[in-house]
Amino acid sequence: MSRLLLLTLCLMMIMTSSIARASSDDDRKAYIVYMGDRLKADLHGPSIHRNMLEQVLGSNASSSLLHSYTRSFNGFVVKLSSEEMLQVAAMNGVVSVFPNRKKQLHTTRTWDFMGFPQEADRTNTGSDVIIGVFDTGIWPESDSFDDTGFGLPPVTWKGICQTSNITCNNKIVGARYYKSDGVYGPQDFVSPRDSEGHGTHVASTAAGGVVNTAGLIGLAAGTARGAVPSARLAIYKVCWSAICEDADILAAFDDAIEDGVNIISISAGGEPSLNYFNDSIAIGSFHAMKHGILTSTSAGNDGPDLGTISNYSPWHLSVAASTIDRKFFTKLKLGNNKVYQGVSVNTFDMKNVTYPIIYGGNAPNVTGGFNGSSSRYCETDSLDSTLVKGKILLCDVLNDGEPALQAGAAGIVMQGDEPAKDFAVSFPLPATFLSADDGLNVFNYINRTSNPIGTILKSNEENDTFAPYVASFSSRGPNPVTFDILKPDIAAPGVDILAAWSSVSPVSRVKSDQRRVPYNIISGTSMACPHATGVAAYIKSFHPSWSPAAIKSAIITTAFPMNATTSLDNEFGYGAGHINPARAINPGLVYDAGEIDYVKFLCAQGYSNKHLQIVTGDNSTCSEATNGTVWDLNLPSFALAASLPARYVNQTFQRTVMNVGSPGCTYKGTVTGSSTLNIQSEPSVLSFTHIGQKLSFVVKIEGRLIESIVSASLVWDDGLHQVRSPIVVYATS
Ligand SMILES: *[C@@H]1O[C@H](CO)[C@@H](O)[C@H](O)[C@H]1NC(C)=O
Ligand SMILES: *[C@@H]1O[C@H](CO)[C@@H](O)[C@H](O)[C@H]1NC(C)=O
Ligand SMILES: *[C@@H]1O[C@H](CO)[C@@H](O)[C@H](O)[C@H]1NC(C)=O
Ligand SMILES: *[C@@H]1O[C@H](CO)[C@@H](O)[C@H](O)[C@H]1NC(C)=O
Ligand SMILES: *[C@@H]1O[C@H](CO)[C@@H](O)[C@H](O)[C@H]1NC(C)=O
Ligand SMILES: *[C@@H]1O[C@H](CO)[C@@H](O)[C@H](O)[C@H]1NC(C)=O
Ligand SMILES: *[C@@H]1O[C@H](CO)[C@@H](O)[C@H](O)[C@H]1NC(C)=O
Ligand SMILES: *[C@@H]1O[C@H](CO)[C@@H](O)[C@H](O)[C@H]1NC(C)=O
Ligand SMILES: *[C@@H]1O[C@H](CO)[C@@H](O)[C@H](O)[C@H]1NC(C)=O
Ligand SMILES: *[C@@H]1O[C@H](CO)[C@@H](O)[C@H](O)[C@H]1NC(C)=O
Ligand SMILES: *[C@@H]1O[C@H](CO)[C@@H](O)[C@H](O)[C@H]1NC(C)=O
Ligand SMILES: *[C@@H]1O[C@H](CO)[C@@H](O)[C@H](O)[C@H]1NC(C)=O
Repeated sequence: MSRLLLLTLCLMMIMTSSIARASSDDDRKAYIVYMGDRLKADLHGPSIHRNMLEQVLGSNASSSLLHSYTRSFNGFVVKLSSEEMLQVAAMNGVVSVFPNRKKQLHTTRTWDFMGFPQEADRTNTGSDVIIGVFDTGIWPESDSFDDTGFGLPPVTWKGICQTSNITCNNKIVGARYYKSDGVYGPQDFVSPRDSEGHGTHVASTAAGGVVNTAGLIGLAAGTARGAVPSARLAIYKVCWSAICEDADILAAFDDAIEDGVNIISISAGGEPSLNYFNDSIAIGSFHAMKHGILTSTSAGNDGPDLGTISNYSPWHLSVAASTIDRKFFTKLKLGNNKVYQGVSVNTFDMKNVTYPIIYGGNAPNVTGGFNGSSSRYCETDSLDSTLVKGKILLCDVLNDGEPALQAGAAGIVMQGDEPAKDFAVSFPLPATFLSADDGLNVFNYINRTSNPIGTILKSNEENDTFAPYVASFSSRGPNPVTFDILKPDIAAPGVDILAAWSSVSPVSRVKSDQRRVPYNIISGTSMACPHATGVAAYIKSFHPSWSPAAIKSAIITTAFPMNATTSLDNEFGYGAGHINPARAINPGLVYDAGEIDYVKFLCAQGYSNKHLQIVTGDNSTCSEATNGTVWDLNLPSFALAASLPARYVNQTFQRTVMNVGSPGCTYKGTVTGSSTLNIQSEPSVLSFTHIGQKLSFVVKIEGRLIESIVSASLVWDDGLHQVRSPIVVYATS
C-alpha cells in the first residue's frame, strides 16, 4: 500500500481519538502545507488559504498564516498545534504537511584541472543564461561580479532586486531575501547582502567573471573564474548564519521559477526525508523541472558512511565532492630540526622565528576548575593563558583554534587521524594538523626537552597526483528512499576551492580572526554543487531548448570514469564519475524524461492518484497503462539492489535515447566491468537517421551477486561519442 495512503489513514485514526482542545500559541510551530500545482487564479491564493484555515483556526487564521506560495505552486506556511496540523492534513487539496525544518549549508585552478580552459568554446548566448543561487546572499562589490561589457538581461527576466543595502547590475540581475519568522541574528544584514561568505563563494564558482589576481594572501594565486563567466546571477538569500529553513527555500523556488531563472543551485540539505513530498528541495525542484529548470544540489557532508546523501530526487542533480591536484600542507619545524608536515591553510608567516612549545595537557586553567584531561583538547576556557601566552600549543584534537587564540597562543599544532586529512582548514592563528604518529613525536620532543621550541611555516602547495578522488566528507549513496535509483549523480571539485568571499566574514569564520579577504579557500559538497551548476549553464547556453533531464543526462554520460581503488564506495561515492565540462555540450545521445515520466515513477512508488493529480495540476492517473516501474524511469544510470536470501537478480530496464549528435550514425553498445553478472543490452546496435530521433533498448541484468558491490558500465559508441552509463548492483541487508 502507498506510503501516503498509510499516512492519511493513521492521521484519521489519531484524529478521531483525539479530544479537541484549545492550543496556546506556545504549542504551535510552523508547518508547510503543500498543495501541489499552482492555483489558476493565483491572486486569490492567500484568501483561499485563509478560508481553509478559518475552518480550523477561526478568527486566528490570518495571524497564523505566515506565507502563501502562489506563483509557481500552491501551499502555505502556518503556525499550528499538532492537533490542528492533523485537521489541515486531512483537508481537500492538501498533498502533505511537514514541519518547517532547518537545513545546513554543505560547507582556482579547478576548471583547468578538468581540462576546461578559459579559452574553451563559448556561445554568444552564455549571457542569456540566468543562474538562481539559493544561499547566504552575495557580496555584490566583488570583482567577480563586475558587469563591464554586459548588456541588459534577457527580456524574459521578470525578477526583482530588493535594494536594501545592495545594488544589482547587469551581472547580478536579481536579489531577494527570505526569512519567514522575521528573526535576525546580530551578524545578519537584513538584505540580500552576504555576511557569511558562503553564498558569494558559491555564486562566483558557478558564474564569476574572470579575475586574474585572485588568491588568498599569497596562496592559490592565479585566475578565479566561474564556469560561464558571461552568465547572469539571480540571488535568493534563504540561509542565515548557515541555517536555511524549508519555508524560505520553498518561497525562493516559488519566486525563482516565475522570475525566469534557467538553472537553480542549492548547496544545502537536511536530514533525509522519507517521502518526496515531505521535503522542500524535492518539491521545489519538481516544480522547477515542470518549468524546464534543472536544480543542482549538493550531496551533503555526512560521508563516508553509506546512505548519508541528503538530496536524492531523480528529477534533480546530486553532486558529490572530489579533490583537485592542488593540496595545501603546513610544516612544523622543531628546535631539533625535525620537520613534520600537516594539513591546513595557513596564511600566517612566522618568518622562521621560533616560539616555545607547550602541550595543552600541561597548561590547564586550574582556577577555572580544569585539569590536563580537558586542557589537552584545548577546549574553551580550559587553558591557563599565563602558561600559553606567546607559545605554540600542541592539542590532541582538531578544533577551530579560537580557545588557543583567546589564551594568547602564538600558534597551534593539532594531531589526530579524524577527520581524514583530504581537505585543509583555515584557523585564526598559525596552525597545522598533524597525523597521530607525528603528533606523538612532537609530544615526545616537548616531554624530553628542557626548552622545546618550534616554528610553523606558511602553507605550501603540492601536486596531489592521486586526484581526483571522492572526499571523505562527501555524503554517499545509495538513495535512502528508492534503492534502485543511483545517487549521487556526479562528482565535482569540492576540496580547497578558491572563490570570492564576503568582505565582512573572517577567513576562518572564527569571530576573533581579524583577516578580511576578497577570495577564500573552503571545502564541501557546497563547493562541488556550483561547479555542476555552472556546467549545466554552459550546456544550456549551447542548447537552450534542452530539458532538465537532457542536461543532466549530458553531464552524467560524459563524465570521466573515476578510480574505485582511490575512491571508496564506487558509484555511491562519485555517481557516474568526474564532471567533464568540455565534453558535456556534445554528448551524442541523451536520455530524456519529462513530468509524465516522473509521475509514472511516483505511481510505481505507491503515491495515490489523488495526490499526484494535485501535484501535477492535471488529470494524469496511475492507470495500468501509465504505471511505470522504478527500473523504467529513463535515467542515464542503472542501480539494482540485491536482497537476501539468494541475492539473485533478474531485472530488465527499459531505456530510450535521443540522437543529438549527427544525422546518420550507428552506435554500438558495450557493457564492461562485471565478470560475475550477466549484463546485456538488446539490441546492441542503434542506427539513427536524423537528429531528434529516439530509439529504445533494454538492459538485462541477471545472476547471483557474490560481492557487496558490482560496478559496470554501458557505453554507446559511434566512433565519435562515448555515451557512458554507470551500472551498479549492490547487496542490501
Ligand atoms: C485564538 O488564539 C487564542 C490564543 O492562542 C486562543 O485563546 C483562542 O481560543 C483562539 N481562537 C480560536 C477561534 O481558535
Ligand atoms: C512526512 O511529514 C509528516 C508530517 O511531519 C510526518 O508525520 C511523516 O512522518 C513524514 N513522512 C515521512 C515519510 O517522512
Ligand atoms: C550595509 O552594508 C555595509 C557593507 O557594505 C555594512 O557595513 C553596513 O552595516 C550595512 N548596513 C546595514 C543597515 O545593514
Ligand atoms: C626560513 O628558513 C628556510 C630554511 O630553513 C628558508 O628557506 C626560508 O627562506 C626562511 N624564511 C624566511 C622568511 O626567512
Ligand atoms: C579560566 O576559566 C575561567 C572560566 O571558567 C575564565 O573566566 C578564566 O579567564 C580562565 N583563566 C585563564 C587564566 O585562562
Ligand atoms: C579532571 O577533571 C575531571 C572532571 O572535570 C575529573 O573527572 C577527573 O578525575 C580529573 N582528572 C584528574 C587527573 O584530576
Ligand atoms: C612526560 O610525559 C609523561 C607521561 O605522559 C608525564 O608523566 C611527564 O610529566 C611528562 N614530563 C614532562 C616534562 O612534560
Ligand atoms: C600535477 O601533475 C600532473 C602530472 O603528474 C600535471 O598534469 C598537473 O598539471 C600537475 N598539477 C599542478 C598543479 O602542477
Ligand atoms: C587506480 O588507482 C590505483 C591506486 O593508485 C592504481 O594502482 C590503478 O592503476 C588505478 N587505476 C586506473 C584505471 O587508473
Ligand atoms: C502501479 O504499480 C505499483 C507498484 O508496482 C502498484 O502498487 C500499483 O497498484 C500499480 N497501480 C496500478 C493502477 O496498476
Ligand atoms: C480533467 O478531466 C475532466 C473530466 O474528466 C475535465 O472536465 C477537465 O477539463 C480535465 N482537466 C484537465 C486539466 O485536463
Ligand atoms: C528472468 O526474467 C525473465 C522475465 O523477465 C524470464 O523470462 C527469465 O526466464 C528469467 N531468467 C531466469 C534465469 O530465471
